Amino acid sequence: MSDYLGIGGKTAIITGGATKIGRGVVDSLHESGVNVVVADIDRDGGKQAVDGKDHALFSETDITDDDAINTCVAAALESFGSIDILVNLACTYIDDGAESSRAQWSTALDVNLVSAAMFAKAVRPHMAAQGGGAIVNFGSISSKVAQTGRWLYPVSKAAVVQLTRNMAMDLAGDNIRVNSVSPGWIWSKVMDELSGSDRAKTDRVAGKFHLAGRVGDPTEVGDIIAYLCSPRAAFVTGADWAIDGGYSAMEPEQSSPAIPLLAQ
Ligand SMILES: NC(=O)c1ccc[n+]([C@@H]2O[C@H](COP(=O)([O-])OP(=O)(O)OC[C@H]3O[C@@H](n4cnc5c(N)ncnc54)[C@H](O)[C@@H]3O)[C@@H](O)[C@H]2O)c1
Repeated sequence: MSDYLGIGGKTAIITGGATKIGRGVVDSLHESGVNVVVADIDRDGGKQAVDGKDHALFSETDITDDDAINTCVAAALESFGSIDILVNLACTYIDDGAESSRAQWSTALDVNLVSAAMFAKAVRPHMAAQGGGAIVNFGSISSKVAQTGRWLYPVSKAAVVQLTRNMAMDLAGDNIRVNSVSPGWIWSKVMDELSGSDRAKTDRVAGKFHLAGRVGDPTEVGDIIAYLCSPRAAFVTGADWAIDGGYSAMEPEQSSPAIPLLAQ
């Protein structure tokens, strides 16, 4: 196995590692020689994510439960001796837009935002004691645009991008780099279900929103995360990385160019 990134033998905890995008991240890190710890409430999916892999552990973890986070951290340390990388990927899409209840707001922010901060808090002393580490938080294209009927998810993701800057500043003294990624449409469980497992249809529908003309693959997200967590990205912290096939480079005019309309 090549160790081009220089992260072979490191240990990563990936929250939400049980699902399609999570699996992409788990696989990219694992292919780079990283010991992977999948922290998820999905027992079956979590077990599948580590099935057949050496140096891989599933820790059934509800990230909204601080005791469960601590149990996961202890399990990672016991199995692999260090925690070098944390990927805060788990999310909820709970969202009724303007009709959302206070309880829904609390759940969305707890899972998507607060739990990422709590997990970082739990791993920080271990990373600091071993000389540093890297954390990647999950933003989204949804953090920067308005989307009809959605308030909770985009707001939670925007907050994650800001939290990343705050974390990067305050953890820099411990040599912990913190970045976020903001994916575009990625081939994921929600798209699999909505399209009836029709990837070609998903690419057709999403194509016009992405310069790449298609949705992204989970490992295309995972590969950027592996890079961000490697010494090759040692000068990168506090940044939000678009993994969006050009989605954010396109303004609304792209699908309906305004200047030619004026001339008509
Ligand atoms: N799907 C996309 O196209 C897309 C686009 C941009 C950003 N993202 C981001 O990528 C990440 C993954 O998205 P996805 O579509 O694969 O999500 P998903 O809903 O398919 O998976 C989320 C995972 O989080 C886990 N999870 C939920 N609550 C949890 C809890 N309390 N404790 C532990 N685990 C919990 C679930 O079991 C699941 O495995 C999210 O952060 C999402 O915001 C996704």
